[in-house]
Amino acid sequence: MVARLGPTPELATAASKMRTADATPHAASLIQSLRDIGYSCETALADILDNSITAGARRIEILSELTTAAPAIGILDDGVGMTLDDLVEAMRPGSRNPLDDRAADDLGRFGLGLKSASFSQCKRLTVLTRKNGVFSGATWDLDAVARTNRWEIELHEEGEALPWADRLDRDGTLVVWRSLDRLSGGIEADAHARAQHINRTIAQAERHLRLVFHRFMAEDNPPLQLLLNGRRLDPINPFGTEFAGHQADRVDRLDMAHGSVEFQCFTLPHHKTVSKADWEELGGPEGHLRSQGFYVYRGRRLIIAGSWLGLARQTELTKLCRIRVDIPNTMDSDWKIDVKKASAQLPPKVRERMRLLVERLSLTSKRTYQRRGQKLVDQEYMPLWHRIQRDGAIIYRPDPAHPVFAAFSARLPADMQNEFANIIGVLGSSVPIASLHADFAGCAEEVQADDADEAVLRQLARAMVGVLVEQGLAAEDILDALHPFEMFRSNWDSASILIREIISEENVHE
Ligand SMILES: Nc1ncnc2c1ncn2[C@@H]1O[C@H](COP(=O)(O)OP(=O)(O)O)[C@@H](O)[C@H]1O
Ligand SMILES: [Mg+2]
Repeated sequence: MVARLGPTPELATAASKMRTADATPHAASLIQSLRDIGYSCETALADILDNSITAGARRIEILSELTTAAPAIGILDDGVGMTLDDLVEAMRPGSRNPLDDRAADDLGRFGLGLKSASFSQCKRLTVLTRKNGVFSGATWDLDAVARTNRWEIELHEEGEALPWADRLDRDGTLVVWRSLDRLSGGIEADAHARAQHINRTIAQAERHLRLVFHRFMAEDNPPLQLLLNGRRLDPINPFGTEFAGHQADRVDRLDMAHGSVEFQCFTLPHHKTVSKADWEELGGPEGHLRSQGFYVYRGRRLIIAGSWLGLARQTELTKLCRIRVDIPNTMDSDWKIDVKKASAQLPPKVRERMRLLVERLSLTSKRTYQRRGQKLVDQEYMPLWHRIQRDGAIIYRPDPAHPVFAAFSARLPADMQNEFANIIGVLGSSVPIASLHADFAGCAEEVQADDADEAVLRQLARAMVGVLVEQGLAAEDILDALHPFEMFRSNWDSASILIREIISEENVHE
């Protein structure tokens, strides 16, 4: 059975005497272009989840079956489900007019997401649904549309063999993606490699979903449950408010013609007060420097994460600052929200308020940071560089007594030890202050320490571990002591293995 989904009649039959020509879109080419709006797997999944949440789902499962000849991904919800008429409408590209008012908790807008998000990843979209126990099902098959050039979906009967169809409850919806050409990354021949590739992509999407929907998962009663192949996912709260030591300012409100925007500034807790795992999860794969900034929510769904939206630079000074911005869906036209809900342009009044917030925030964070900076430098274990404040000047000087220099120096003949200390002194006196200054003023976030290669790391670690072992520190304490060093921390996975190796060698020597 099929259903025709041609353009709406009002559009197709133009007014009375006007001279007209038929300009009905070609199904085959228009539906293809829906594939390339620019979704990634994670934004596509998020769009499907939006629909489930709007349908009142409290439990959404992402399912994957990748090892078979016909791999599939499913998104199963326990929302209100659809009647057959609802379903046919839902499958229509442009099922809703973007200008229509929507319920406050409706995360949709263009009537496109289900189709465009799915087609961005697959060629076969099946939606199975049950409302009050009554089953309906339909499939868009892009290959069939390409063949027939018809806006036609295939309808399904209950009991047809379709993936996970038995998992549907009395009410709920299951979206199935098959013919995963895009998700397969071009790997078609080798089923194992293809499954691995898709698994990796889904694993990356996992963090995105935990972040995008964290408020539904944490604030709602009952909370939204999100599962990936049976494993319950935890929300990621980007403001770290569950950790002691975070700072939350009061909520600031801006009333506009189409609704109110709310702002709230947060400062993350200092990294020493949370566990390494929590700290890394908060920072995400891009790290804290790149995760600072505005977090913009539309109807509590995150649409922009960690960007100053051109109002400030992402610098070390503001690394811990995150500003939550809440906008209602009634303001979509003011914000110029895009189909993927991945970007929005700010109305001038909101932008102005944001600029003020940024200014205030960078002033306070500068102070906190400077206080912390002082403490950090004072407390940091065995700094390679000393920061010396004298007569209104600040001097950075490498410490020739640092274990990494001292250990090497000890192996030199006596006459060369002085010379070596002088060479280290030369390094200190020739820090390129003027050019550093210019770089920090221009592009602070791009100024970085040089990457240390393994040999350098090993030498540094060996010298420092030696001293710490002598001081009687246990392995875990040594790791903690070395973690703050940027050279180790920036590559902690391999650095910690290296350090452990050296610790065990040292202990054997004893
Ligand atoms: N999981 C679902 N449960 C119930 N209804 C759904 C579901 N997914 C989609 N729909 C229906 O399909 C319509 C079209 O969805 P979509 O193409 O994403 O556009 P939009 O979300 O902008 O309305 C929705 O408005 C909704 O009525
Ligand atoms: Mg939608």
